[in-house]
Amino acid sequence: MSKNATAMDTLQIRPGKPLRGTTTVPGDKSLSHRAILMGMLANGTSQVRGWLAAGDTEATLGTAQALGVSIERHDTHTLTIHGGNLRPSAQPLNFVNAGTGIRLAAGVMAGQPFESVLDGSEQLRRRPMKRIIAPLQMMGANISGTNDRAPLSVKPSELRGIRYEMPEASAQVKSAVLLAGLFAKGATAIVQPGPARDHTERMLQSMGADIVTEGNTIILTPNGQLNPMNMTVPGDFSSAAFLMVAGCIVPDSDITLTGVNLNSTRTGLLDVLLEMGANITVTETGLEAGEPVGEIRIQTSDLKGIHIGGEIVVRMIDEFPVLMVAALCASGETLVQDAKELRVKETDRIAVMASELRKLGAEIEEREDGFRIIGQQKLSGAAADGHDDHRIAMSMTVAGLIASGETIVTDAACAGDSFPGFAETLQHLGAMLTGEI
Ligand code: S3P
Repeated sequence: MSKNATAMDTLQIRPGKPLRGTTTVPGDKSLSHRAILMGMLANGTSQVRGWLAAGDTEATLGTAQALGVSIERHDTHTLTIHGGNLRPSAQPLNFVNAGTGIRLAAGVMAGQPFESVLDGSEQLRRRPMKRIIAPLQMMGANISGTNDRAPLSVKPSELRGIRYEMPEASAQVKSAVLLAGLFAKGATAIVQPGPARDHTERMLQSMGADIVTEGNTIILTPNGQLNPMNMTVPGDFSSAAFLMVAGCIVPDSDITLTGVNLNSTRTGLLDVLLEMGANITVTETGLEAGEPVGEIRIQTSDLKGIHIGGEIVVRMIDEFPVLMVAALCASGETLVQDAKELRVKETDRIAVMASELRKLGAEIEEREDGFRIIGQQKLSGAAADGHDDHRIAMSMTVAGLIASGETIVTDAACAGDSFPGFAETLQHLGAMLTGEI
């Protein structure tokens, strides 16, 4: 248990009830960070509905306010952002646990005519920042951090456009470079080795920026124009993922998730579950914020193991913790390769998931870049811990739905970093879950 965990931080889960009914999931976290960071740069007033009010995104909103941006909150999810007037913050900008927040903001701050310091929790201070420091320095940015970690110091400098061949597909790196590119002299081109999520490109384009994608190359030519946005944030596929796996593995379930972002750069888990034999149907219902949106119906499924590696990994990088739970239920072998990035997320998600699931009796072979699981394992309820990592806490809760007896997840409140109302949503669908987070 983390030293901050309290009884309020704990969930008790019992198996035995099917999951049934219809629900929405909270707004997309990636889009909600970007709405703040780009809304504050727009030359006017942006309207954002369906914004995700969660730990990570509230941190980013707080940093925008520290930079003097006026943000009106009409209700928790509805914002008016008055863009265009950044001024120095007297305090370091505190991104708490938000890796996306700090990395994207580093690109924005590199283009400002004043100094800033970007910082966060102890957890965030352990995460690698070289991946954004290196390309931003190539652009002429004056950015540094001890051992290439936060706190990051950013000082004013003249930025120039670059051609950057990203060593790994990463939306955070691509976005930091593109956002800095808005303030650079000349065009910025990014060559990505695979299709990382493209929300930044879509949002910049909708705001009037000159940005084109040709194959794997994205070219941004600064045109001094960034119009305000008027958007509704669709539901987060990465939050839907926990309910999708739960719906597949809990007997006699039939659930429908509405208003979910179905951007194909995000839906690798859907492709994988379908290939595993999942009983899932998807109906596209329209477009929100330039992103395809739809309904996902999940019924209990006989899953088969699968081999995963290569390009699809980045399209489902946040979903591997919960995929581990699906793999434990599937028949045969599941092998995941090329996913070493999991080791530098909020926690080392390979090691932490393996050790937490072992507490429930699971057998998992850890690999440097993934894992191997022989499925159809019987799990027994036990005490597990969320490690202040939202996706670990939620994945262990899903595991508890199919483990015999009671599972207790401590340090579970971190689920609220991306999915506030996670426990209530499962309860609404019929899960036997108690505790307040
Ligand atoms: C994100 C990009 C991904 C993802 C993270 C959100 C984003 O990280 O894991 O949760 O919003 O750009 P990487 O860019 O490091 O793959």
